[in-house]
Amino acid sequence: MNIPILPLGVPSDFEKYFYNREKELKKLKNHLNALNEDVAEQILITGYRGVGKTFLLKKLLNELPDNILVAYIDISRAYGNQKGNLKEELIMHYLLDSMNQALKDSSGTLKNIHNTVNTFLSKITLKQYDFKEAGNILGIAVPEGHDDYEKLSKFVMEFPQKVVESSDNIQGFVIVIDEFQLIGELENPTSFFWLIRSYTQNQDNVSYIFTGSVSKTSEIIQMINGQNGAFGGRMIQVNIDPFSKGEVKGYLKEKVKEIKFTEDGFNRFYECTRGIPAYINSFCNTMSSGEIYNNEKVKETFSEKMDQITVMWIQIWGTLSPTEREIVISIVDNGPQKWSKLLKTVNISRNTLAKYLDILKNKGIIIFNDSEGYKIEEKMLEAWLKHKKKVNGYYPP
Ligand SMILES: Nc1ncnc2c1ncn2[C@@H]1O[C@H](COP(=O)(O)OP(=O)(O)OP(=O)(O)O)[C@@H](O)[C@H]1O
Ligand SMILES: [Mg+2]
Repeated sequence: MNIPILPLGVPSDFEKYFYNREKELKKLKNHLNALNEDVAEQILITGYRGVGKTFLLKKLLNELPDNILVAYIDISRAYGNQKGNLKEELIMHYLLDSMNQALKDSSGTLKNIHNTVNTFLSKITLKQYDFKEAGNILGIAVPEGHDDYEKLSKFVMEFPQKVVESSDNIQGFVIVIDEFQLIGELENPTSFFWLIRSYTQNQDNVSYIFTGSVSKTSEIIQMINGQNGAFGGRMIQVNIDPFSKGEVKGYLKEKVKEIKFTEDGFNRFYECTRGIPAYINSFCNTMSSGEIYNNEKVKETFSEKMDQITVMWIQIWGTLSPTEREIVISIVDNGPQKWSKLLKTVNISRNTLAKYLDILKNKGIIIFNDSEGYKIEEKMLEAWLKHKKKVNGYYPP
């Protein structure tokens, strides 16, 4: 008997694979439905890597009524294309592109806007900033005599509200910014968040949803929604939790009932995956139906198939810079460390270390606490690195 393969990314036929999250969906829909009453909420979604933020958002956007337009951007894609050198201008361009995509299948005025902005977009790719035509069609007064970024950002930030106002059938625009923690790598992330804040304040029909692999306590969360952050705590913050034991049971029963566990085997499985769907799926894909998984068998499979189970880390590891890797390896090797010790164990200057520790914290890979110092937040990353060292004799380059 074959076991169905569970997806590792977010599949296009996701309805078939999506499980539960009823409460979260209901809550988020309520917030977004306020757009119909000209109330725009700004939302921040946090949660562990692989917990299902992107999947949940795809499901949510898919279920919104037709009078709400949606745009989705993944900053890691813009970031990847730039080989690590992220610029505000690129994010703005990308944002406008995806907002305009939302008008692709419309007719009448919205179709006109779509076509004009498409032409405009191809011009900015060629670095020809001509805002006249595009500005005119939406009634956006683009300032003269300022730099291009200022013009572009004004146009982009006003775009969604203007779109809503130019159509009787549209009540709201939802814009999702996924992997937003990478905004932390702009030269001035604070001003980027303040810019968005300054526009959203006067827009009653535009909701932004920021989400990414970022821990609740990281600096970037403070920067966007802390007391002194751009949104000053006014954003609605929703943390997506791992599946509970009961949910994992329900999930497995519904999607891969062929896998048989003993009670303690299931408990061990839950301990290994910690209820995170990304690990549950990749673990299940290594299992077979002819087996009864008890505690020992689960432990054995976990260690034998470590590479497959932690597959997402191979890709993420590849995106880390050599300096980031050096810091992570030092912490895995020597355990949690205070600043002064870490400065000795790595071959990095004081300033560089400070900068990259911030970046790693924003990525949810490292966490700081007063008693232990810096430690690895992602247990599965630590397990994977230790496993690689044991098998190969060295850490992955
Ligand atoms: N509610 C769910 N039902 C079924 N599978 C899920 C669910 N949520 C997540 N998954 C699965 O878990 C994996 C990870 O989900 P997803 O990519 O959405 O996580 P994420 O929180 O966005 O992770 P990252 O922080 O790395 O972006 C995907 O393969 C997805 O199919
Ligand atoms: Mg995601």
